[in-house]
Amino acid sequence: MADLTELVAQLKPALGRRSAYLDLADGLRTLIMDGRLVAGDRLPPQRTLADALELSRTTVVSSLTLLQAEGFLSSRQGSATTVCVPPERVDRPDEPAWLAKDEPPAIDLSIAVLPAPGQVSPAAHRAAERLPAILAGGGLHPLGLTELRNAVAARLSRLGVPTRADQIVITQGALHGWDLILRTFARPGSQVLVEQPSYPAAIDAIRAHYARPRPVAVTAEGWQWPQRLDRSADIAYMVPDFQNPTGHLADESERRRLVKRTRGMMLCVDETFAELGDGPVITPTAAYDKRVITIGTLSKLVWAGLRIGWVRGPREVVNRLAAARSSQDIAGPVLDQLLALELMDHLDEIGDGRRSLLRQRRAHTAAACRRAGWEVVEPSGGLFLWVDLKGASSTRLSHLVRARGVRVPPGTRFSTGGTHDRYLRVPFTSTPPVLSEAVRRIAEAADEADGKSRSATSPVWTI
Ligand SMILES: Cc1ncc(COP(=O)(O)O)c(C=O)c1O
Repeated sequence: MADLTELVAQLKPALGRRSAYLDLADGLRTLIMDGRLVAGDRLPPQRTLADALELSRTTVVSSLTLLQAEGFLSSRQGSATTVCVPPERVDRPDEPAWLAKDEPPAIDLSIAVLPAPGQVSPAAHRAAERLPAILAGGGLHPLGLTELRNAVAARLSRLGVPTRADQIVITQGALHGWDLILRTFARPGSQVLVEQPSYPAAIDAIRAHYARPRPVAVTAEGWQWPQRLDRSADIAYMVPDFQNPTGHLADESERRRLVKRTRGMMLCVDETFAELGDGPVITPTAAYDKRVITIGTLSKLVWAGLRIGWVRGPREVVNRLAAARSSQDIAGPVLDQLLALELMDHLDEIGDGRRSLLRQRRAHTAAACRRAGWEVVEPSGGLFLWVDLKGASSTRLSHLVRARGVRVPPGTRFSTGGTHDRYLRVPFTSTPPVLSEAVRRIAEAADEADGKSRSATSPVWTI
């Protein structure tokens, strides 16, 4: 059941604009399209809602009837009114950059990656020199090279979670780790609790294993846990550090709450961006509960081309993940792991470079977005801004800017079902001139669309 007090606080600003029933319908529609109310949420009874909003019951009934006709609500005789997203809105367009016809786009904002730092090339030479020493073996290490597992365990211990090497399996990046977890532990129909909005490929992976994402709303201010969370999910996938795409950084109390709210589920925490913040790393979630499975990677801190990540968890879990590789990739490439091992001693120095570069680019991009008239809650780290386009449709903008040589996915791509259309994720990994030019072109397209793209039902207020 959606929390009444919260719902009323979120709906009040929508009222008093046109007629009350249209205002209320606009307000509820916006909450659904912004992912604050998620599919399956139950609305309070009509009379309770009417009293709390100081509206007549007829007004509330008219609003709910309108939304039902539009497909945003459903209700069966005698049961509560529940939230849904109309099928025609469930659009998560994706076109991998390398498949697109207009390749290469002048500016690609569909991915958030940095070029390799200077330390990678010399480390590759040193790794090649180490290779002969292990060529005598068979070369298959499903859990990963022991020395690399030791190095990852030592780093995680330093960051606040005491870790042994036998709790680590080396993977080919964080996404591979998540996919292995799903492959091993999810069953067709399993429910996976996932932030809404979230990392699109993580949602795609859930679906690829015939599991079902169950969204929980997150904004730049944090997780919006419903008062009574349906605990039927088997697995939870959360990104507490500079969440993709909102940039939210969960503090210690939110992490404790996360552990509490997901009790009974396999809690998987993706720490892809954990070391990319302005301040010190916040105590990792695994420090609060032994059952937490942590997913990590060198992709963002060092370079996505390395394809080296890891999963940390109880030994039995890690062994099962490694065993699942026997019908998949068998084991990771040895030379790449040697390279990663060489880089492990340089992570502090590489991280310092990344953090200062990203801080400058973040400030630059946030200023450019604000000048364009958009609203930005600037995160204290990570790789992107989650920009509120103030009512414009990112789906429409995403199409329009393609003709201007900019590739950027619409906000709906980050949703489990067609919501968040008025948001755009803008990564600040490109150089400042490229970022300025990208924002300029998107703003120009927004101006062109203005007036044409804003339908009568677009939100006219922000919450
Ligand atoms: C939350 C999250 N996890 C994982 C990844 C992918 O990481 P990797 O390159 O290590 O597979 C990304 C990429 O953007 C991401 O945003």
